[in-house]
Amino acid sequence: MQKIDLNNKTILVTGAAGFIGSNLVKRLFKDAAGSTIVGIDNMNAYYDVSLKEYRLKDLSNISKQSANNQYNFVRGDIADKKLIDNLFDKYHFDIVVNLAAQAGVRYSIENPDAYIQSNIIGFYNILEACRHNPVEHLVYASSSSVYGGNRKVPFSTYDKVDNPVSLYAATKKSNELFAHCYSKLYNIPTTGLRFFTVYGPAGRPDMAYFSFTNKLIKGETIQIFNYGNCRRDFTYVDDIVEGVVRVMCGAPDRRNGDDGLPIPPYAVYNIGGGQPENLLDFVRTLQEELVRANVLPPDYDFEAHKELVPMSPGDVPTTYADTKDLERDFGFTPQITLREGLRKFADWYKDFYRIN
Ligand SMILES: NC(=O)c1ccc[n+]([C@@H]2O[C@H](COP(=O)([O-])OP(=O)(O)OC[C@H]3O[C@@H](n4cnc5c(N)ncnc54)[C@H](O)[C@@H]3O)[C@@H](O)[C@H]2O)c1
Repeated sequence: MQKIDLNNKTILVTGAAGFIGSNLVKRLFKDAAGSTIVGIDNMNAYYDVSLKEYRLKDLSNISKQSANNQYNFVRGDIADKKLIDNLFDKYHFDIVVNLAAQAGVRYSIENPDAYIQSNIIGFYNILEACRHNPVEHLVYASSSSVYGGNRKVPFSTYDKVDNPVSLYAATKKSNELFAHCYSKLYNIPTTGLRFFTVYGPAGRPDMAYFSFTNKLIKGETIQIFNYGNCRRDFTYVDDIVEGVVRVMCGAPDRRNGDDGLPIPPYAVYNIGGGQPENLLDFVRTLQEELVRANVLPPDYDFEAHKELVPMSPGDVPTTYADTKDLERDFGFTPQITLREGLRKFADWYKDFYRIN
């Protein structure tokens, strides 16, 4: 593995106003001394844009207080080839972390175009730009959804993932294939990270922990899919960021094979909590933490606001990460329990929405 020092580098983070991207940039302010960090995001309205603006404001405030790095934010679309090419020509990035994507499984059923634009064309533009402006390492977000309805658990990166059950999953699997091809043809070190259900403060309102909270507070009913017979491997955002930062510092080696051509400097890892939770247990923990944080009153009638419903199209019954490779190569496995993580989310939610 090629070790990379994050200090004094020029780093691009796409999706910088997003949940994971903003947390990563914040972390880089501390870990990448003397570096120039460029964030790009198109600020689309897939979910409440004020949350993206809140994250950006936070980043701008922190960056102003620290003389440690240079930080520039570009409002733009990775599907805009000219913009991306100009950005790479201007900065000659050393490290690129591609987190910009149209996320969400259910939304991909009604809005397939957004997935092709951001996840396919956008990622292709990033790869082409890395081809013409060589980088030390391209790290990109894949997803646990590539495992589709895999029955073998835990999910290993050695499992066959040729049966996606949503367009979102198909675009993420395509990203891995594209990356492999560019690693092989142009010797670009790439690492794909299959994230498993990431949650935390200022997270994504389309995800269950956040949307359930929004609904419960309005007195609406939450729908629990597959009658609660689902298991999800939840990963707290700080654990994801720790994993991303460690992976950024270790690029797959560039080596030639017997034929004199590059062996693709290509890797894929899972980053997941490694402890799948039953959906009903997850909802119970969320309820307890919402009450503890005074987001909901102690006498809230949860049973009256729960509905068990069938599986929804594109969903999978289980996600469960095998993280042995991440531990072997980067000495890291996620640490934060679901209860600790939901507690931080509930406390943040109370402050952010000024609940008395
Ligand atoms: N959160 C999870 O549980 C999870 C799980 C698996 C994979 N992922 C992947 O991790 C990455 C980050 O996810 P997140 O949860 O932070 O999502 P997010 O939606 O909060 O962040 C993505 C950001 O990318 C931006 N974006 C989307 N399309 C863009 C485009 N064409 N050009 C520029 N910006 C664009 C969005 O405005 C958003 O701010 C995504 O690639 C997602 O698919 C997330």
